This record gives sequence, structure tokens and C-alpha cells, in this order.
Amino acid sequence: MSPIHAINFSLTSLCSARCVYCPKDRGESCSEKHATPDLIDAVLESVEHAPDHLKRASLRIRLGENGDMFLNPDAIEIMRKVRRRLSGATLELYNHFYLVEPSLTDVLLKERLVDAVYLNIDGMHDNYRKAKGIHLDRPLANLRYFIARRNSLGLRIPVSVRALTLSDYVATVSTNYHTSPRLVDPDDLDAAQDYAELASLMRGILTPRLDSFKKSIVTLWGERDSLRELGIDEGKFACPLLFRIQRELCVRPDGGCYLCCADSKQELLIGNLAEESFEAVVLGETRRFYIECLQRRHYDSIGGPCMTVYCCQIHHKSRLVTRAFRLMTQYGWLLRMSYEFWRRAWGVIRIP
Ligand SMILES: C[S@@+](CC[C@H](N)C(=O)[O-])C[C@H]1O[C@@H](n2cnc3c(N)ncnc32)[C@H](O)[C@@H]1O
Ligand code: SF4
Ligand code: SF4
Repeated sequence: MSPIHAINFSLTSLCSARCVYCPKDRGESCSEKHATPDLIDAVLESVEHAPDHLKRASLRIRLGENGDMFLNPDAIEIMRKVRRRLSGATLELYNHFYLVEPSLTDVLLKERLVDAVYLNIDGMHDNYRKAKGIHLDRPLANLRYFIARRNSLGLRIPVSVRALTLSDYVATVSTNYHTSPRLVDPDDLDAAQDYAELASLMRGILTPRLDSFKKSIVTLWGERDSLRELGIDEGKFACPLLFRIQRELCVRPDGGCYLCCADSKQELLIGNLAEESFEAVVLGETRRFYIECLQRRHYDSIGGPCMTVYCCQIHHKSRLVTRAFRLMTQYGWLLRMSYEFWRRAWGVIRIP
């Protein structure tokens, strides 16, 4: 049994954007939409008191999973609690910066509430709006301010920007499955590729040798409902996130732990960290059973999103590359080796 390396918190299941590649059933199984500071404190207490062999000393705490965490009015208070309880942990922020206004940035930086930032900027103005339902001006202004303020304070907080362009997404769905993405407006299917233009814009904003910009990987979790109808045999596919599931926990707004970050409804529960000890959840029978089912590809014994495991695979607009990813997934060790490699090397425009 591997110790837990990272805990992914969904502090809210609501979002300020509506990306065409992200499922709309986010957090459907959880009646609480926002996590409260008290609840998170109870969760953190169970993490804090967990036996050392069950968790890494250098835990990664990822905030923002499955929603826009800054819609939670207590987001900052919760970040303070994470810092206080788990002072040795690395705090990573996942967000698209729509609500990270200058006053919020000032608090985040002044109180050192974040160690690394990951955000998606998925296209230039027109395509961005078509892909995400919001305007780019705001996140862009927020990002510029964050970078400027961070640099003026001399803080080494890397910002990793990822782009899943509308053009790449449409091409990926259509070359692999001969269909169009479910949520893309038919008028937007011929959106022009704007990655190079975006890369050039980012070069002017990000800081060399600290920040990075690259293409995002593509998964089709937003297409589960339509691809299910194709009757694909799920037993032919390996779970691409097994190596993370064995080393990470995902926590929803009511403290419930769900199996995997690709479970957008947050329905595959393995326990509740606000009610049970960390040890009980990590060593629990349900988690062990699910992991064993994933290893044996017994997806029907798990149900839910695992029944469309083919949507969880990393896809590419070239079918050949999709096949290569699938092959790597079949051999978990190869994917693990390649994961970091691909993250670094993939379509990459690193700011030199
Ligand atoms: C679900 S979001 C949650 C955090 C936050 N709302 C955000 O967008 O950054 C986490 C990450 O998943 C990525 N993502 C969502 N749908 C995706 C897809 N179909 N393929 C690849 N990445 C996707 C987003 O770009 C984001 O970086
Ligand atoms: S990818 Fe992030 S920003 Fe887009 S809808 Fe999903 S949770 Fe919101
Ligand atoms: S198969 Fe199930 S556990 Fe694996 S990535 Fe997909 S939803 Fe997650």
C-alpha cells in the first residue's frame, strides 16, 4: 500500500465558467455545494493525526478540484486553515482566474497562501468565450496583476498555464469518434486554431524560467453520455488514473472522499474524512475493493463513470497518438514514467 502523496479538495461544486469539455453534472451526488471552514478543519485534523506511514511528509494539497473554489465565500479562510494545520504541505491552486481579482491576489500573496498555481487559458478572445462561456478580459487582467505583484514581492510561485483550444477539442472528438462534441454549438465547430497566438500572448505575460505555458492533455469525460451510446467494450481499456488513485484522495464539499477526479458527480464514495479517521478511509474495504476492481478491469462492479473508462483516456486529434497513449495506459509503469515526461514535453511552448 502506497502512502498518500496528494489530497484534492473540491471546495465548491459550482463554477463561474461552463467549459464545453467539462461535464455539467459536477457534484450532483453531494447535497452540500460549498465546503465550510469547520468541516475542512475536521478533515485536516484527521489528515494531521494520520500515522506517518500512510501519508508522505511532503503532502501536496490541491485546491480547486471540480469547480471554481472562489465561489465559496470561505475559500480564503479555508486556505488559512490548510496552512495552519499542515504547515509542511505544498499548497497548489487550480483555477481559471475569473474571480482572482487584485484584492484577492494581495491576500493570497501577502499571507503566502499558495505555493504553485495551475490555470487554463483555452484560447484567444472569441474562441475563449465560445469554449468557456465567459470573457477572457477578466482572467487575463487578473493573471497580469498576479504575476506583477508576485514579482514585485520577489516570490517564487510558479504559474503553469495550460490550453485546451476549441479547435483541438473538436478535432480530437471528431477524428477519434466521428462525432461532434456534445456541448459545442454547431456554429463553433470550425473554430480556428489559435494556440500559436495564445502562446505569443502568454510569452508577453509570464516570467521566463519560472512560469510555463503548454497544451493541456485532452480527456473526454464531458462526452460520457454521447459516447456511451456507441457500445464500446470498456473491458479493453485500463484505468489511466489508477496510479493516482492509489496515491491520492479526493474530498468533496461534505467531507466525503470520492474515488477519482474524473468522477464529476462525486458519486464513488470510499468514506468521509470529517466523520472517520484518515486510516479508516485509506485502509477501508471500499477503497481496497474499488482499486482491485480497477486493476482487474471489473468496471461493472464499480459502475458510475468507470463504465465509460474509454472517456477517461488521454486522447489526441491524431488517432495514432491516441493509440500510443492507450498503450502506455495498458502498462501502468510506462504511463507513470511517461506522465511527467509528457507533461513537460507535450506540444510544449515553455517560456525559456
Ligand atoms: C476540472 S478543472 C477544476 C479547476 C478549475 N475550475 C479549473 O478549471 O482550473 C481541473 C482541470 O481539468 C482540466 N480539464 C477539464 N476538462 C478537461 C478535459 N476534457 N480534458 C483535459 N483537461 C480538462 C481543466 O483545464 C483544469 O485544468
Ligand atoms: S474546467 Fe474548470 S473552469 Fe471549466 S467548467 Fe470545469 S471546473 Fe469550471
Ligand atoms: S475508470 Fe473510473 S477510476 Fe479510472 S479514471 Fe475513469 S472514472 Fe476514474
